This record gives sequence, structure tokens and C-alpha cells, in this order.
Amino acid sequence: TGPQQTGPTAVSAVQDSAFLRACRREPVPHTPVWFMRQAGRSLPEYRKVREGTAMLESCMRPDLVTEITLQPVRRHGVDAAIYFSDIVVPLKAIGVDLDIKPGVGPVVAEPVRTRADLERLRPLEPDDVAYVTEAIGMLTGELGATPLIGFAGAPFTLASYLVEGGPSRNHEHTKALMYGDPQLWADLLDRLADITAAFLKVQIEAGASAVQLFDSWVGALAPADYRRRVLPASAKVFDAVAPYGVPRIHFGVGTGELLGPLGEAGADVVGVDWRVPLDEAARRVGPGKALQGNLDPAVLFAPREAVESKADEVLEAARDLPGHVFNLGHGVLPDTDPDALTRLVEYVHTRTAR
Ligand code: CP3
Repeated sequence: TGPQQTGPTAVSAVQDSAFLRACRREPVPHTPVWFMRQAGRSLPEYRKVREGTAMLESCMRPDLVTEITLQPVRRHGVDAAIYFSDIVVPLKAIGVDLDIKPGVGPVVAEPVRTRADLERLRPLEPDDVAYVTEAIGMLTGELGATPLIGFAGAPFTLASYLVEGGPSRNHEHTKALMYGDPQLWADLLDRLADITAAFLKVQIEAGASAVQLFDSWVGALAPADYRRRVLPASAKVFDAVAPYGVPRIHFGVGTGELLGPLGEAGADVVGVDWRVPLDEAARRVGPGKALQGNLDPAVLFAPREAVESKADEVLEAARDLPGHVFNLGHGVLPDTDPDALTRLVEYVHTRTAR
């Protein structure tokens, strides 16, 4: 099951990986580990290959995407790769005028706030993202038995960038639209659900063996509003990809009060941030789901012994879960020491070896 292998043997080795087994709540040889934002600025080899290439441009170059996606797999020995891209890539692909500004995040030239703005968001066709299909073909050849996670931004988080025009602390324009014109809001989220579903389908058909929906900013909502005004769109995305049978992961930040409704949206695995211990999270999410998480990414700045004791707390809280994928409670922070990540992978593997 070495690298370069493709065909039936490689496919069954991927299906038998600790990561996919944990997502399916099957017994595992060790608790699988991967890190959100494992590819990126914490790695010197990433900064090197990215030199002189803008973020969005690098997302459209299959050679760069392949190299950057593989970097953390080589360096840390994580149990899964995550496709290198950004949540705004499918919006760019349908012609939205946007850019990713270093140190800021995605910035949209003309925010979406009216019915006419909404009409500019056309459906995503597979040809719009041919580079994704090409990159995933290259990647699955290189990854061998290591599964590849595809991903997309969830309708609410994408809507927040589109409506605000960029990153936002309070999401005030987004909420103004949500409460002020519920029909336009529902239509916007429904359209984003179709774009997101189409983007995930491209990734699965090209060879991704799991998908994660990032609803990073959904913690800004109260449960009743989430259920009524956002859940239907996220559920539409999960339903659209259900026939492929690949595990569907759902992640948001600050979702302690939302874990119940997040469970209802239809994912197989729910990602949890560091504010709720995993045993309590499991009670809130309800039965029949695996959990992913949830070490505070800032803990990696503490000495090794402290990192290990905090990792033990996560593993202890996850002990009786039917499926646990070890991860951080949000993405790797840019100044994280990469060696701390490598040590953490080894530590979790050793501690949980069965
Ligand atoms: O390793 C991986 O996880 C894959 C790479 C990945 C990126 N973005 C690369 C990236 C993933 C999964 C994302 C998703 C993403 N993008 C999310 C959801 C995850 C989360 O963090 O909650 C969000 C909200 C975005 C939007 C976005 N893109 C932000 C907030 C930023 C940071 C801006 C900054 O510079 O502070 C980006 C840019 C971005 N996306 C970078 C990377 C590696 C940094 C840009 C660079 O290296 O030049």
C-alpha cells in the first residue's frame, strides 16, 4: 500500500484507513489525526513554494495544489490530507469579483445585498473548476492509502463574506438581510447550497473520499434562527452528496449552543471547537454520529508536557465515543511550531494504539 499505487488495492487501503473507519464509527488501530489548516503558513516549505504566487492563483495551479496538500502528510504523518484551496474558490469560479488579501481574508468587490446582486450568482459547472479535477487526480495517485478530504464553505459562512464584502466581527449586514428580507435571504442560501453541492460533487467524483463543510462563523447565530434560516440550506448540501456514501463532516466555531441543530443538518461527523468537552458534545449532538476535535490550537504554543496533558484530556473525553477523529478546535495558527504538530500526531498515535 505504498504511494503511487492506484486501482482496487489502493482504493480498499483508503477505505480501510483509520480516518475513514473512525468516520464510519468502526474500530480503529489508533485514533486518526489531521489538522484543519494543516497546509499553510506554519510550514516553511509552504511559504517557499508560495513565494511570488497570490493565494487564489495558487489554488488554480494543480502542481502547486498537489505539492502543498502533500506537505503536511509528509512532514507530520497525519491520517488524512485536506485539499488545498479556500472556501471562496467556487465563488471566484462563477465570476464573483473577489480577492484574498494577506492578513485580512477574502474581500468581495461588490457585496451581495439585493435581488439583482443575487441574480449575478450563477450555478457552478464542473468545467469552471477543471483544475480541481486535475489536481485531485494527481493527488490520489501520490497519496496511496492516505484519504483525501474535499471541502467547501457552508452557505451561511459564504453568505457572510458575500453580504459583508469581507471578514466581519458582528455580521451586521448579513443579519440585516436575514431578518429584513427573509425571502431574499432564503433564496441566497438556497443558491449557495447548490453551488456548494456542485463543488463538493466535483471533488468526490475526482477522488476525494470524505468531505467537510466549513461553517466557521455560524456560532454567531441563536439556535432558533439557525434552525429556521440556515439549517435547510446546509441540509440541502448534505442531502445532495449523500448518494456518494462518503463521510460528511460538519464544522463550525463557537457552536456549543448549536450542536443539537448541527447534528440535525445531516452530517456523519460533527466537528467541535475547544469550548465543549467531547463527551458533553456527544450528548448535545445526539446518537449516530462520530465527533472530530477538539484541542485548542493556542495550546500548541505551550511546552510539550502541557500540550500532551491537554491532548490527554481530549482523548479521555472521547474515550467512550464510537468514532473520534482527533483534530484542533479550529485551524492551525500561522505561528505554530511545525515540530509541535508532528510531536502531537506521534503522541496521539502512541497513546491510542490498540
Ligand atoms: O490545510 C487546509 O486546511 C486547507 C487549506 C484551507 C485554506 N482555507 C487555505 C488558506 C482551508 C480549509 C481554508 C478554508 C477557509 N478559508 C475557511 C474555513 C476554515 C476556517 O478557518 O474557519 C475560512 C473562513 C476561509 C477564509 C479565509 N481565507 C481566511 C479567514 C483567510 C486568512 C487571511 C489571512 O491572511 O489572515 C484565508 C486565506 C487563506 N486560506 C490562507 C490559506 C493558506 C492564507 C493566505 C496565504 O497563505 O497567503
